[in-house]
Amino acid sequence: MFAKIHDARLRLRRRADLHQQSKGTMNSERYDKAAIWLHWVVAAMVLAQFATGWLWGFFERGSEPRFYLFRIHIVIGTIILVAAVLRTGWRLTHPAPPLPAEMRPAHVVLARLTHGLLYLAILVQPVLGLLTITAFGKSIGRWPRDLHLSLSYIIALIVAVHVAAAFWHQYLRKDGLLLRMVPRRVPRT
Ligand code: HEM
Ligand code: HEM
Repeated sequence: MFAKIHDARLRLRRRADLHQQSKGTMNSERYDKAAIWLHWVVAAMVLAQFATGWLWGFFERGSEPRFYLFRIHIVIGTIILVAAVLRTGWRLTHPAPPLPAEMRPAHVVLARLTHGLLYLAILVQPVLGLLTITAFGKSIGRWPRDLHLSLSYIIALIVAVHVAAAFWHQYLRKDGLLLRMVPRRVPRT
């Protein structure tokens, strides 16, 4: 009887310890499941857009690889637009977990600014892309195409800053910020 109670208490303590570990360091508050999945799916698709957009230039006009890369770019870009609308709606109704209290005000501003610009990028860039390929877009001039091309470099820069910041937090500051955006593994007891 006493042995059973002792065992149960040990199991409970082990579970509490594992829970503590799984929370990472100080950032116990995470993004919710939908925000996490939307983030990684959209991030992967955005990277695919750079890969396709910059790769097709290496192939001759009218060649098969160029044709397929272009098609993939348009299909993925359109899915990004749908995902971006869903994601923005989700974010407006589900606030992000608060940033660590010890973060410097300048870093908080920088983080908010980059995140805001990234949301804007995934909404605006596909619209410009769609305008570039449609008759309506062509009727309003070359600016959607020119802006799409210039924006691709600006977005690449913002993404680079964003990724560098994520790794800086994880490996230099070691505050576990990256874990807020990683799906939680349910610990086995
Ligand atoms: C977030 C989404 C997107 C990103 C990050 C993106 C990125 C890019 C990049 C990097 C290029 C190559 C730029 C260069 O040659 O220097 C490009 C070109 C292009 N993209 Fe996108 N794109 C996106 C969405 C779309 C969508 C949805 C469409 C159309 C439905 C589209 C249509 C085009 C077209 C037509 C070009 C070639 C423009 C030209 O050279 O005439 N893009 N895009
Ligand atoms: C592949 C490398 C990437 C890594 C390691 C990464 C990492 C992260 C992390 C750790 C956060 C949470 C920051 C926090 O806790 O406050 C975050 C948020 C965010 N990321 Fe990324 N990210 C990546 C790529 C991207 C890309 C390509 C985009 C482009 C759209 C993007 C857009 C965002 C946005 C908009 C947020 C803010 C989310 C919100 O507050 O709703 N990320 N990212």
